[in-house]
Amino acid sequence: MRRIIFFGFLLILPLIFQTISGENDTINADQTLKDGETLVSSGGKFELGFFSPGNSTNRYVGMWFKNITVRTIVWVANREVPLADTSGVLKVIPPGTLILVNQTNATIWSSNTSRPIQNPVAQLLETGNFVVRDGQDNEQGNYIWQSFDHPTDTYLPGMSLGWNFITAKETYLSSWKSNDDPSTGEYSFHLDPTGYPQLITRRRSAIESRIGPWNGIRFPGPPNPRDDPTFRLSFVMDDEKVYYRSDLIDRSFVSRYTINQTGLSQRWTWGDRTRGWVIYFSVPGDICDTYKLCGAYGRCNVGSSPSCECLERFVPKDPEGWVRTDWSNGCVRRANLSCKGDVFLKYSGIKLPDARNSSHNTTMTLEECREECLRNCSCTAYTQLDIRTRSGCLIWHDELIDIRTLSGDGQVIYIRMASSEADSKGKRREILIGILVSIVGIIVVGLGLLLYIRKRKNNSKKRKEAKYKPSHEKQSDLPFFDLSVILKATNNFSDRNKLGEGGFGPVYKGMMEEGQEIAVKRLSKESRQGLDELKNEVIFIAKLQHRNLVRILGCCIQGDESMLIYEYMPNKSLDIILFDGTKRALLDWQKRFHIINGIARGLLYLHQDSLLRIIHRDLKASNILLDVDMNPKISDFGLARSFGGNQTEAQTLHVVGTYGYMSPEYAIDGLFSVKSDVFSFGVLVLEIVTGKRNRGFSHKDHSLNLLGHAWKLHKEGRSLELVDACLEDKYYSSEVMRSIQVGLLCVQQNPEDRPSMSSVVLMLGNEGEIPQAKQPGFFTERYVVSGNNSTSTNATSSANEVTITMLEPR
Ligand SMILES: *[C@@H]1O[C@H](CO)[C@@H](O)[C@H](O)[C@H]1NC(C)=O
Ligand SMILES: *[C@@H]1O[C@H](CO)[C@@H](O)[C@H](O)[C@H]1NC(C)=O
Ligand SMILES: *[C@@H]1O[C@H](CO)[C@@H](O)[C@H](O)[C@H]1NC(C)=O
Ligand SMILES: *[C@@H]1O[C@H](CO)[C@@H](O)[C@H](O)[C@H]1NC(C)=O
Ligand SMILES: *[C@@H]1O[C@H](CO)[C@@H](O)[C@H](O)[C@H]1NC(C)=O
Ligand SMILES: *[C@@H]1O[C@H](CO)[C@@H](O)[C@H](O)[C@H]1NC(C)=O
Ligand SMILES: *[C@@H]1O[C@H](CO)[C@@H](O)[C@H](O)[C@H]1NC(C)=O
Ligand SMILES: *[C@@H]1O[C@H](CO)[C@@H](O)[C@H](O)[C@H]1NC(C)=O
Ligand SMILES: *[C@@H]1O[C@H](CO)[C@@H](O)[C@H](O)[C@H]1NC(C)=O
Ligand SMILES: *[C@@H]1O[C@H](CO)[C@@H](O)[C@H](O)[C@H]1NC(C)=O
Ligand SMILES: *[C@@H]1O[C@H](CO)[C@@H](O)[C@H](O)[C@H]1NC(C)=O
Repeated sequence: MRRIIFFGFLLILPLIFQTISGENDTINADQTLKDGETLVSSGGKFELGFFSPGNSTNRYVGMWFKNITVRTIVWVANREVPLADTSGVLKVIPPGTLILVNQTNATIWSSNTSRPIQNPVAQLLETGNFVVRDGQDNEQGNYIWQSFDHPTDTYLPGMSLGWNFITAKETYLSSWKSNDDPSTGEYSFHLDPTGYPQLITRRRSAIESRIGPWNGIRFPGPPNPRDDPTFRLSFVMDDEKVYYRSDLIDRSFVSRYTINQTGLSQRWTWGDRTRGWVIYFSVPGDICDTYKLCGAYGRCNVGSSPSCECLERFVPKDPEGWVRTDWSNGCVRRANLSCKGDVFLKYSGIKLPDARNSSHNTTMTLEECREECLRNCSCTAYTQLDIRTRSGCLIWHDELIDIRTLSGDGQVIYIRMASSEADSKGKRREILIGILVSIVGIIVVGLGLLLYIRKRKNNSKKRKEAKYKPSHEKQSDLPFFDLSVILKATNNFSDRNKLGEGGFGPVYKGMMEEGQEIAVKRLSKESRQGLDELKNEVIFIAKLQHRNLVRILGCCIQGDESMLIYEYMPNKSLDIILFDGTKRALLDWQKRFHIINGIARGLLYLHQDSLLRIIHRDLKASNILLDVDMNPKISDFGLARSFGGNQTEAQTLHVVGTYGYMSPEYAIDGLFSVKSDVFSFGVLVLEIVTGKRNRGFSHKDHSLNLLGHAWKLHKEGRSLELVDACLEDKYYSSEVMRSIQVGLLCVQQNPEDRPSMSSVVLMLGNEGEIPQAKQPGFFTERYVVSGNNSTSTNATSSANEVTITMLEPR
């Protein structure tokens, strides 16, 4: 009997529990919320109750994340009027107001109601919105009051930031006064609807910084990924309202946007891994986010020093002040406008100027926009309004202020100029002048070089025979070095000079007599072809010149030795730094992103721009060399058989490549194409972001390799957890996200799904839409390479990365 009761109890227990937790997010007119009690949203994400901020003993009604260990207040009801003790009681009363009363039943704080209702209830929603609605009316969104219309210093996803023109009410953020006092501080964050809407941080009434204007996709400025997988952004503007809103796609994601007492607005995400808040981006993020820093027509560029420069064809208005870094007077046109006959010049890669004195039209085309601007002498510039639909017109009527260089998110603007600056002929003239200048430059440099070489030749006449035939004589004439010179430079290939073992033989460091440092690749005998073939190959490789390819200086073929001589790279190869526990901290995110971009451009050149289609076939971290400035240079290209014309895919008997970087179709079927290089590139990108090798990657929760791990986190919207821990928070998450997305696109199973290197370069530069990646190839398999699998060169297995040359049994 007892047992039956017990089981009966077990059966109804969940029901009891459900009713308790179900009701626990709501109070009605018969209930109160006393200090010490709390409401919890239905999914357990938010909690509402009484709290004391910082070291203060005052009591406030506020809301915080329930499940987060760091108490983070996201909303305060009575921010201006604290309770002095714990006697406060929160009630909801007809006709639909929330009131907070103290011991003597005096109302400390109350909400307003938009219409009277008989049976009001107050409910804490799972979005963090505290609403008052009619108890009988369960329709969503039919609220008579909501805390989302009265935020304090925190924006939560789902909130609409902006204006209701009908009620003349604005929803904006305002900072706390101090950590102990949530009352309204000096700074506020607004969607400013003047001209064309922008996001603006104000200190009292003065503008501190500006994001935007809205470009059809987002507010350019803070590094906001174009295809942010975690948010859906929207911007609504009509006669009644204008607002900006972001909604979480994955509801479990925890994110907030705040403005703090020093005017910094920041987007935060909760890191499950770090158990702390991670800054996603900050505004102002650098000095160039300071409003109007460079004055009118000045352009701020964090990369240059000093940061301000005049736009091209503009000159400082007050040259002396400008030199003293007083930029406030800004710049003026070199040539005055004449209204009639003015022209427009295109400036790109910029953050658009302050649009508060602008006008717009959403239907005009760019050409109509230009005509409109030309017609009105007060029009100073125009641009396209919406880069997504490629339509609309935005026109400025004043001096252009607050312009900065934006690398990823930069936009284009057409600025009115005097016809003397450039007319249609002028442009051509400019190009012609450019060409002339470069020709003259080339001639001068060439002459200089010739003289220099003459002199050098004369000088070294006394020495042994010239060892170094300069390559200017004939393009195909690759410098051939004398063996004795190489032997001397490398101390007879002494072990101390050995830099490492590459795919085709060991590499030595050498020092020429003139002091030039070189790297000598001594081709192993096994990999050697016939003499003529090799010469042709070397001449051909030497023609490939790009700043992201290691430059070949010459070769040496003598007796049974054949060698390639390269420029020497002081920072050795990427793997040495990237996978080293301490050294990898040297690679901050900026450098890593630079390296990723460099490799992409180098590879693009090999694949497309070099005219000769080259497939690298062995792209990997140890084949990326770094120069003094950490510029990446691809090495060992062109050694695997190159092939010409429009042949895009081939099958080979020799599989040359490295496990961990090889695409499935290449490793399994020996099929290679530019897309197999793209695969290797994708692996490399993910390795650079994470600082971990694909091969040898392990994770306690699953048996996926790095690709699988990245894919898993990406699907769960947790990509940022991939980032190398040694970067801490010092990275632009948009660049990181972009890199990860591109990396995942490149390692997709099906070669046709992988992007070409040209679209990779565009996507990394934030110029192309990034499609959704599909499942990567080889995302669980781990390769075990045994010695006998590798009939490769006499390459000794250094670390766990060996270039494989294997015969495919076909
Ligand atoms: C709601 O539940 C929490 C515990 O989950 C409790 O601390 C709180 O007092 C409850 N609030 C009300 C109004 O019952
Ligand atoms: C509280 O006061 C202590 C000592 O005055 C101080 O160290 C601490 O930072 C204060 N905490 C906050 C949140 O202001
Ligand atoms: C609370 O957080 C923990 C760890 O972050 C998570 O496992 C759990 O699911 C969370 N609970 C809720 C109700 O969100
Ligand atoms: C406050 O109001 C409550 C209920 O309305 C009442 O029971 C209580 O006596 C009042 N207290 C004072 C001090 O007026
Ligand atoms: C309650 O609030 C009223 C009005 O603000 C104030 O005059 C009164 O002193 C407060 N009572 C207590 C006990 O705090
Ligand atoms: C409530 O609304 C009225 C009129 O709309 C306004 O005058 C009053 O200041 C509002 N009160 C609060 C607390 O917002
Ligand atoms: C504002 O935020 C920044 C960055 O998190 C922090 O360094 C600064 O101390 C904050 N200001 C205040 C007053 O908390
Ligand atoms: C441009 O106009 C300003 C004022 O209208 C005048 O002072 C200046 O001399 C003009 N410059 C040229 C180059 O004509
Ligand atoms: C907008 O125009 C007004 C009036 O001409 C001027 O005072 C103000 O400085 C202008 N603002 C901007 C941002 O150009
Ligand atoms: C926008 O431009 C089109 C074409 O010039 C015009 O027909 C339309 O009236 C304009 N709209 C507004 C709001 O000015
Ligand atoms: C030029 O534009 C300004 C600002 O929009 C406007 O006030 C003025 O009427 C326009 N002039 C002409 C001739 O259209």
